[in-house]
Amino acid sequence: MKTLTIAKPDDWHIHLRDGNALPRTVNDVAGWAQRAIVMPNLVPPVLNAAAAMAYRQRILAARQPQHQHFEPLMILYLSDKTTIEDVTEAATSPHIHGIKLYPAGATTNSEAGVNDLTYLYPVFEAMEKHNLPLLIHGEVTDSDIDIFDREKIFIDRFLSKLVTDFPGLRVVFEHITTTDAVEFVAEARDGVAATVTAHHLLYNRNDLLVGGVRPHYFCLPILKRNSHQESLRKAVISGNPRFFLGTDSAPHAKAAKESACGCAGCYTAHAAIELYAEVFEAEGALPLLEGFASHFGADFYDLPRNTETITLVKESRTVSDTFTMGDETLIPLRAGELLNWRIRQ
Ligand code: NCD
Ligand code: ZN
Repeated sequence: MKTLTIAKPDDWHIHLRDGNALPRTVNDVAGWAQRAIVMPNLVPPVLNAAAAMAYRQRILAARQPQHQHFEPLMILYLSDKTTIEDVTEAATSPHIHGIKLYPAGATTNSEAGVNDLTYLYPVFEAMEKHNLPLLIHGEVTDSDIDIFDREKIFIDRFLSKLVTDFPGLRVVFEHITTTDAVEFVAEARDGVAATVTAHHLLYNRNDLLVGGVRPHYFCLPILKRNSHQESLRKAVISGNPRFFLGTDSAPHAKAAKESACGCAGCYTAHAAIELYAEVFEAEGALPLLEGFASHFGADFYDLPRNTETITLVKESRTVSDTFTMGDETLIPLRAGELLNWRIRQ
């Protein structure tokens, strides 16, 4: 039987939500990951170190006994009101690993995000000084810009300038979806990296739209055309350490997804490493999975690589049709369909 043993992965971009969603989300990701960068787009958002520490405790408390190893890595939410003091406080905390920039209105719970980047230049300067990474949702929000072009235009209008204006600022371009983003990151100065989701590697906009709208493939940034998907697949199997694993697993209740105005987000935490393994196997690049999933992100964040391992076995299993998340029903990615790999327990 085909097996693959790799250092335990980490997830460098995940949404765990809060309250009674945590037992589901935390224990799903802890089933395959040692650590995860936890997105701060709660309601209200995680704006300062005190809020991050309280959220961290709620996550730790949700871990089942077999998942006590799991470590949440906290992130602050950048708003127009973020101060230099907020940055200093975050930088001195061993549990806070960056600040997330959401352009206001770009995605779920981003209303409190940033309206004017230039206004925040003193904050970026402080982050550069304290070596605190800036994590970016890289899409413009202008109503006249086509949703499929929003990532590219963000690079042209904002990202290029930002990485030039702050040459020492470490930047993660989150959940990249286009050839343009792959090229930008590959050619950027040192200290610029990107996360790539499993769903953007596995699917494109045909999966979302051909034959009917499939709301469980709707996420932001939206799935792009297959040539962009192809660029992402080439990037992750290139062995370039600037590209590393970030699932962007983002649960929304079934009713909120299957709606006249459905929420954006794909839930992959239950099977993320198996999904990535499928991609690397199909590309004939399984030996490159470990760097992408388990080494490059830790190196970027200046954290030790994990010493434990997990073993993946080439054996299919069917994903449940539905999960429960608190009082709600959740439809996971691949619901009722096969996965080709499983984790040996
Ligand atoms: C995320 C969410 O639901 O919080 N949704 C998504 O489609 N990815 C927000 C985000 O990361 O954009
Ligand atoms: Zn996200």
